[in-house]
Amino acid sequence: MKIIYKTKNEITGEEIMNVFKSVGWNKNPEDILDAFKNSYYVTAYHNNKLVAFARSISDGYYYTGIYDVIVNPKYQKKGIAKEMMKMLLSKFKGTYFFLSYTEDNREFYEKCGFEDLPSGMWMNREKSFNLDIDKL
Ligand SMILES: CC(C)(COP(=O)(O)OP(=O)(O)OC[C@H]1O[C@@H](n2cnc3c(N)ncnc32)[C@H](O)[C@@H]1OP(=O)(O)O)[C@@H](O)C(=O)NCCC(=O)NCCS
Repeated sequence: MKIIYKTKNEITGEEIMNVFKSVGWNKNPEDILDAFKNSYYVTAYHNNKLVAFARSISDGYYYTGIYDVIVNPKYQKKGIAKEMMKMLLSKFKGTYFFLSYTEDNREFYEKCGFEDLPSGMWMNREKSFNLDIDKL
């Protein structure tokens, strides 16, 4: 199966949504297109159809976050996600890499070289949306 990989290429909200929907995830199409535009992303195509992507946000020197690593189920277990991860790791080689994962995917990220972060914190989106900054 010939998979073509691209980086930061032209992409539509509909194409992105089709990949999200293939794994049962939903997003706002306009927001997610904007989010991609603000990220460095890798895409994977089969017969001109977007079948997978992975995106990152980096300062280019110190810190890189990895998000939305998604492969259409019909194309999973063929090494596509690992190839996209390699492209992101290579692009921002030498920076700290961070990601969060769902438990089912821990082993995949371990195979990409990731390990547990001994101390880390986060704030989820809903909390950040409702946060009363003055009350902190
Ligand atoms: C997780 C996901 C991106 C992996 O994509 P993929 O293209 O199937 O992964 P690859 O084929 O590149 O797998 C690379 C290696 O990781 C392993 N692997 C992949 N997914 C795995 C999983 N869920 N559990 C354990 N191992 C996994 C593969 O067996 C392969 O091992 P190998 O190198 O020893 O042969 C894909 O299953 C997916 O899109 N899931 C739904 C969306 C999602 O949950 N994304 C991650 C958000 S945290």
